[in-house]
Amino acid sequence: MDKLIITGGVRLSGEIAISGAKNAALPILCASLLSAEPLTLTNVPELNDIGTMLKLLAQMGVKVERSAHTVTLDASALNNPLAPYEMVKTMRASILVLGPLVARCGTAKVSLPGGCAIGARPVDQHIKGLQAMGATVTVEHGYVHAEVTRLKGARLFTDMVTVTGTENLMMAACLADGVTVIENAAREPEVVDLAQCLIAMGAKISGAGTDVIRIEGVERLHGATHRILPDRIEAGTYLCAAAATGGSVTLNGVSSGYLDAVVDKLLDAGCEITSEKTAAREFIHIEAPARLKAVSIRTAPYPAFPTDMQAQFMAINCVAEGSAVMRETIFENRFMHAVELQRLGANIKIDGNVAFVTGVAQLQGATVMATDLRASVSLVIAGLVAEGETQIERIYHLDRGYEHLEEKLAQLGAKIRREKA
Ligand code: UD1
Repeated sequence: MDKLIITGGVRLSGEIAISGAKNAALPILCASLLSAEPLTLTNVPELNDIGTMLKLLAQMGVKVERSAHTVTLDASALNNPLAPYEMVKTMRASILVLGPLVARCGTAKVSLPGGCAIGARPVDQHIKGLQAMGATVTVEHGYVHAEVTRLKGARLFTDMVTVTGTENLMMAACLADGVTVIENAAREPEVVDLAQCLIAMGAKISGAGTDVIRIEGVERLHGATHRILPDRIEAGTYLCAAAATGGSVTLNGVSSGYLDAVVDKLLDAGCEITSEKTAAREFIHIEAPARLKAVSIRTAPYPAFPTDMQAQFMAINCVAEGSAVMRETIFENRFMHAVELQRLGANIKIDGNVAFVTGVAQLQGATVMATDLRASVSLVIAGLVAEGETQIERIYHLDRGYEHLEEKLAQLGAKIRREKA
């Protein structure tokens, strides 16, 4: 397996471009299943998760054309509404095919995603919503089977805020008979991006970005072209890498609008941040002090602090001045990076879903192991500030979600290289 080798101690500086958002691209690729006309997407990041989703769609009969960051999907010959375990087990977001398949084909068989390193992550809310829209849903032999003649509009309420649950039900409702209202809907920018793509395809959706989304079903959706929004988590990750190293970095193609909670914490940590969005240019610039102040965080659904940025902030708190309390409220097992950060000399104590981090003057390089996507990148950030060499093993997690990570960091001056297995 490939590993990353980082020699720490370089202050990051320079400019890089931010890629399209993985978590917007994944549901939007699935939206292609809703129409018999082609959907063209631009700014699609080149990531392993995107490759997995395209393979999954292709084996259902979707014609896929991909050139660099543009993907065209033609689901006119969709003939196999099945998502097999072998594909779903590597990527939980595969569940996003369920709603579109049952809406368009009247039948779907999708493997349950199963366990996941960061927690149980059930899909009961996706199933409950489809049942409320009239589908017969059974779970047998590890597969969700859904059948319906045509989905019916309904009032849906999810027990908790779920991002992919909201996306799945919003897509399904586009082709339902009548009006669907999703209450307690996720407000993430990626949900809004999906809604904008669906609207471009002819869907009648209002309220995306609020916690009540209203969808008036239509008979069919048509083709469209849509540009995927920038990846706020990738941007936040590079802001943390810059912050940890006392750097001066500009991120192009993204502005701070979707990153308020993250930017707020970086300001508290002592960084200076400027951002602009005009027709000509969009960027965020960060100037970090020589040493950050530790910042406490509590993760919660958007617009609060994102769980997908918790691990990166743990890395910066490890080298900051003072102590921080970090509370994870979304996933029950999302501190796996803590033990690896401890191997680099971090002072972290975990009590259930709370981590107490006291900054140390210096981390030391060591061999560590990546466990999930965001956990892995927190080890990269720690490696950038640790003394000497840090080797990160099992980096396939990083390739799932960060486009050209080593190249982008190297462009900012980092000493980082990949060693092929
Ligand atoms: C999405 C993101 C992921 C992010 C997460 C939370 C994608 C592809 N992934 O994941 O990067 O970390 O949002 O911001 O967009 N839950 C249930 N039953 C359900 C659905 C969810 O109990 O049917 C629970 C989950 O176990 C979790 C919480 O609800 O505790 C939120 O999960 P959810 O928002 O659904 O996460 P994902 O959509 O899988």
